[in-house]
Amino acid sequence: MAADDMDIPAPQDSALTALYAPKPVRPGHPVPHITSLEEYSERWKRSLAEPNAFFGDLAKKLLSWSRPFDVVSFGDFTAGNVSWFLNGQLNACYNCVDRHALTTPEKIAIIWDSDEIGVHRSITFGEVLAEVSRLANVLKAYGVGKGDAVAVYMPMVPEAAYAMLACARIGAIHSVVFAGFSADALRDRILDAKCKVLLTADQGKRGGKTIHLKKIADEALAEAPCVEKVIVFRRTNDPSVPFTSPRDVYWDEEVSKQRPYCPCEPMVSEDPLFMLYTSGSTGKPKGVLHTTAGYLLGVTATTKYVFDLHEGDVHGCMADVGWITGHSYILYGPLSNGVTTVMFESIPTYPNAGRYWDLVDTHKITSFYTAPTAIRALRRLGDEHVARYDLSTLRTLGSVGEPINPEAWLWYHDIVGRGRCNIVDTYWQTETGSIIVTPMPGATPTKPGSATLPFFGIDIAVLDPTTGQELAGNNVTGVLAIRNSFPSVARSIYNDHARFLDTYLNPYKGYYFSGDGVTRDEDGYYWIRGRVDDVINVAGHRLSTAEIESALILHPACAEAAVIGVPDEVTGQAIVCFCTLKAGDEGDIAAALKAQVRTHIGPFATPKRVVITPELPKTRSGKIMRRILRKVAGLEVTEKDLETEDGLREKLGDLTTLAEPGIVAVLVKIFAGRT
Ligand code: PRX
Repeated sequence: MAADDMDIPAPQDSALTALYAPKPVRPGHPVPHITSLEEYSERWKRSLAEPNAFFGDLAKKLLSWSRPFDVVSFGDFTAGNVSWFLNGQLNACYNCVDRHALTTPEKIAIIWDSDEIGVHRSITFGEVLAEVSRLANVLKAYGVGKGDAVAVYMPMVPEAAYAMLACARIGAIHSVVFAGFSADALRDRILDAKCKVLLTADQGKRGGKTIHLKKIADEALAEAPCVEKVIVFRRTNDPSVPFTSPRDVYWDEEVSKQRPYCPCEPMVSEDPLFMLYTSGSTGKPKGVLHTTAGYLLGVTATTKYVFDLHEGDVHGCMADVGWITGHSYILYGPLSNGVTTVMFESIPTYPNAGRYWDLVDTHKITSFYTAPTAIRALRRLGDEHVARYDLSTLRTLGSVGEPINPEAWLWYHDIVGRGRCNIVDTYWQTETGSIIVTPMPGATPTKPGSATLPFFGIDIAVLDPTTGQELAGNNVTGVLAIRNSFPSVARSIYNDHARFLDTYLNPYKGYYFSGDGVTRDEDGYYWIRGRVDDVINVAGHRLSTAEIESALILHPACAEAAVIGVPDEVTGQAIVCFCTLKAGDEGDIAAALKAQVRTHIGPFATPKRVVITPELPKTRSGKIMRRILRKVAGLEVTEKDLETEDGLREKLGDLTTLAEPGIVAVLVKIFAGRT
């Protein structure tokens, strides 16, 4: 990777450096699983010194096996050849549903809170078992079996969870596509995995708006003939929703024909559980592949320890099931622990900014998990929306998906947590499957803005981005890499193991490369600084600049495109596109290009700004110098800097490789509003 692409984002500027001690246990609240930093540290050290004994014990304790494993871990992780819990057999659905339904069938598994305030539903483990079994039988009736990929394009309804669990039950590999993705994005993902069945809904509801899922799915399917059957859940029952018989069938009609029990397919530990597409530094999304036992152990253990779950708890993860956070911490993690999980259909500001806190109050949520973007947006809307609710059940407040700025952290701590809750800033990725850097509530003193220390079994290295050498000791900044294998790490990219190696294991031989910049401070605490590759993070959603660029150049007027992320007060980063136009295309096509990105990827990828420029800053060999674009769009260069060569060099670094130096002044003037 060229050094030009390896700018490590600047640290967050803040005067807040205080250390927050773990909170004392309040009367009536359980004692945390881990009660001191020494206890955490001892267990972490053991997990690295004796990983097989550590994870072998944990796997026996936390998961139910239909056949015990013979070997805990095997193979060479950094060569892309690692396996965990060899020859063991288990089923993820059994672990999440049956084992609780058999002992406590009346216990609430899922609380679904709908888009309409006050309308919610509680579903017991016994009911989930019956619903999932029925759906599993439907899938079997349509010929789906072990190893088949099934596409899931669902709104936030319990049926989305049933869909994933039904696949897991029969050994099918689910590929959930976030309901905010466009028809083109859905089509590409269906085609890549060659799905024969799609589970979707007529429409979705979100923040009072209707999402036309079936209509979008139909557009995708027009170019994805591999799909033979579409199972349509009726969320709104709108009669205008298109329905193509016999390809399409209604979910309710199909499940009503099936018996409410379906045996679980015994899965070998390393059998795939699901794939989830994520953006990388090329235009083509990657189907990150997770396996059954390792993933399930990772999410079960992290949910238990990081959210400090106890019997009777209610876990509220506000993510969407379409992203990894939803997979791991709405579905598999809480349910495997037998803990009630909340599925929230709406958005934090609908019908008002008290919606999250209404959920906590109504459902007596004990651990709450959301993204910094939501925290920042709610902070701006005022403390009064939080103050009117009883939040006394909360013990742990989690943050995920992007760096949290200390001001937002403090607001979460003081206003939502009322100074009584442990804040866990959890760092991880789709590829790691579960949390890898995090405080342990009750044990780790926290610093606002730092994800603190590694989870059990995680051995972090900070590497010099250019030389790849390890930066030893504290007070170092570099790229975050992992030295060792851990159970929940992804094993491959669906049908492209070479790409898996090239993306994660070949950039720095002997390490897993995360793509993130990091600082290890004087206390050994980790501060995640953001992506160092061509991935941007908008409101906790990961997007590849190359994917957006590919969408832009599909527009007939666009000749070239370069996309960067700029800092944004609410969404962390926002998308800015620089486009050159084909000869003859002039006038205001910026709006059309924004629409182009929405159509090709989805509304969540809408650029904040499209800048039409006569050319892009390139080296003489034709490589776009994104560093210049980032600095100009981040308003780090002013017109005054243009006056002297030294001034410009100070702000932008060496410009001698630039083919057309005049372009810098043109771009700076555009951002100064002068052209
Ligand atoms: O850049 C890091 C950021 O989100 C990326 C992973 O995105 P994704 O695979 O979509 O998973 C999101 C949910 C885990 C990371 O490479 N990220 C995630 N958590 C944090 C974070 N950045 C800073 N602090 C975090 N706590």
